[in-house]
Amino acid sequence: MTTQLSESPFLRACRGERPDHTPVWFMRQAGRSLPEYRALREGVAMLDACFTTDMVVEVTMQPVRRYGVDAAIFFSDIVVPLKAIGVDLDIVAGTGPVVAEPIRTRAQLDQLRDLEPDDVAPVIAAVTALTGELGGTPLIGFAGAPFTLASYLIEGRPSRDYRHTKAMMRTDPGLWHDLMERIAAVAGQFLRMQVEAGASAVQLFDSWAGALSLADYRAFAQPHSAAALGAVADLDVPRIHFGVGTGELLGAMGEAGADVVGVDWRVPLDEAVRRVGDRSVQGNLDPTTLFAPPEVVAAEARRVLDEGLAARGHVFNLGHGVLPSIDPDALARLVDVVHAYERP
Ligand code: CP3
Repeated sequence: MTTQLSESPFLRACRGERPDHTPVWFMRQAGRSLPEYRALREGVAMLDACFTTDMVVEVTMQPVRRYGVDAAIFFSDIVVPLKAIGVDLDIVAGTGPVVAEPIRTRAQLDQLRDLEPDDVAPVIAAVTALTGELGGTPLIGFAGAPFTLASYLIEGRPSRDYRHTKAMMRTDPGLWHDLMERIAAVAGQFLRMQVEAGASAVQLFDSWAGALSLADYRAFAQPHSAAALGAVADLDVPRIHFGVGTGELLGAMGEAGADVVGVDWRVPLDEAVRRVGDRSVQGNLDPTTLFAPPEVVAAEARRVLDEGLAARGHVFNLGHGVLPSIDPDALARLVDVVHAYERP
């Protein structure tokens, strides 16, 4: 890793340092809110795009060029490694991941094999190409956490209440833990391949873990997230751990092996810091704030930055992803506000 990269504001904040400006990037910065993304994706299915090296490189670069964000998030999806090991699934526009035959039995679990480099060759080629193109800007690799991936595999599609997922967890804990172990292995393998190809940080997305109580999270999800994060523990890259509605789980998510805990907008960062202990935090502007006038966005962003001063390191982000109808100019202005912020 070059000095320019290892001393970048993003990696320094992940390590708990205070660079000259607070680094900022946005979850879902690469995607539908950008006209240049929509133009490129015209007539190309989401998963086909994810397996086309040139397209992955271009879409990952688009927000870096437009906004001057401090990190790039790799353009892919949490279900890509599952598709790559042969799970029959698709990403349906406006719905999300849909699995043809939801996984509910041991025989189906036994079909889930390890991820091999050849399965994701065009994906990993994009990581390598991006590392060159990005220069001193860090690339964040990512994977879905076992609970969130399991929820798609077991329900078969996005769910409001995760009834099949929780039913398996409670009625057949043996099957549940074996399935989670399998998924954690695949997620960990995917993270490791991205880092070995040049990604300089990783984020584990447990978007739907907020559906669990703290006790259930600790018993049924945390050990498997720890295993996925553990797969890159020896590679010396910061590990970010993020979920939505996970205010009660923040401490446990930190303990799973995260250097940085991602916080949604429901818990102020100074309170989040009390919950995660001696770790950096990432977040946490409510994405819908971006529909308000610029002066309101700026004031809210400064509040988040003030609250983030309680942390060892702070990476500015939204509390969840960019919504498709958010005006790119509002994000560009927000980056300027974060970069111009001076600590009191
Ligand atoms: O910019 C980025 O953040 C990088 C790319 C990225 C995508 N998905 C691209 C995408 C990342 C990091 C993800 C992660 C992801 N995918 C998560 C975790 C993050 C989160 O937002 O909570 C989850 C839960 C998924 C599953 C998924 N994939 C959903 C719920 C959807 C949206 C469905 C819809 O159409 O509303 C997708 C599809 C998806 N993934 C799109 C993009 C840009 C939209 C599809 C398209 O552009 O055609």
